[in-house]
Amino acid sequence: MSNETSRERVLSGIQPTHLSFHLGNYLGAIKQWVDLQSSHDAFYCVVDLHALTIGAKPEELRRRTLASVAQLIALGLDPEKCTLFIQSHVPAHNQLGWVLECLTGFGEASRMTQFKDKSQKAGSDRTVVGLFTYPILQAADILLYQAHKVPVGEDQRQHIELTRDLGQRFNAKFGETFTIPEGYILKAAAKINDLQDPTAKMSKSSSSGAGVIEIMDSPEINIKKIKSAVTDTGREVLFDEQAKPGVSNLLSIYSALTAKTITAAQEDFIGKGYGDFKMTVAEVVVEYLRPVREKANELLEDEAHLSKLLKIGAEKADAVASKTLRDTYDAMGLISRG
Ligand code: AMP
Ligand code: TRP
Repeated sequence: MSNETSRERVLSGIQPTHLSFHLGNYLGAIKQWVDLQSSHDAFYCVVDLHALTIGAKPEELRRRTLASVAQLIALGLDPEKCTLFIQSHVPAHNQLGWVLECLTGFGEASRMTQFKDKSQKAGSDRTVVGLFTYPILQAADILLYQAHKVPVGEDQRQHIELTRDLGQRFNAKFGETFTIPEGYILKAAAKINDLQDPTAKMSKSSSSGAGVIEIMDSPEINIKKIKSAVTDTGREVLFDEQAKPGVSNLLSIYSALTAKTITAAQEDFIGKGYGDFKMTVAEVVVEYLRPVREKANELLEDEAHLSKLLKIGAEKADAVASKTLRDTYDAMGLISRG
């Protein structure tokens, strides 16, 4: 058996919601994607169709999608090692999405907590139906590739459960068609918190931005944000998430980017004050991100090259997805065009 077919397959997706990913996205998700591409047959997509539920302006969506792809490559995804593509380039996602919608109970979809939260906040008249069917499109993303594992954050657990239920339901009704994926829930250890509110997760939607380290921001901005990070009472640099959430968060960032254990990270700051500590963390972050930002900008300057990479990714993805879709249609009794 060739290496390609003997390796387990992983699939994951990320929404192009902003022009820049933040450090939480990287340490909580993308870094694991990079690691998995060496050991697995990895498929990663920028889910632009899912992002339509946000209602961004066309030019914004376009720029965010390309910026997302450029950053994923700059952060270490290698189009030669993994299949990196844009969701809307593979029409089978929508096609399987419809099939799965016809197998999903209305009540079942209504119980998705992310939908409930978002629709409650917006009110039912301003909630689009696409937000309701969002998890079903996500199930299609996964089942199309016969993925064994889906590396995602804890917040996606319920969507993975739905995917498994839909896959099992289809297989029981129409015959074995889909691989039933396992969630690969990324460790909470990599959860990065807001620098200004270190008890809340780093996130652009829930904060002013002053506590969010953006991959594409200049070193000056990021140094300033880290220097102004909230610290805690006392003077010692110790990891204690209860008593010292601010210091602990900075230690987590430092340890993740230097690949040191938390203990080793703490030892680097014995006898040092918070000022020195923050300056060192800032330098580590800025030096880590500098080549990433440069590489992403370089990729964005050559759109033709980026398009070429995306075309190769889309073709590889399409080959797998079209086959699954055809098998699905056959199993259900949809007649082949011949
Ligand atoms: P979002 O843009 O919030 O949907 O996040 C995209 C991905 O990044 C998801 O897999 C999240 O689990 C992960 N992520 C987002 N924020 C953080 C954070 N502060 N710490 C760790 N992972 C995060
Ligand atoms: N819903 C996921 C998130 O917000 C993004 C996503 C869409 C996804 N399709 C996927 C994740 C398929 C994993 C697999 O993070």
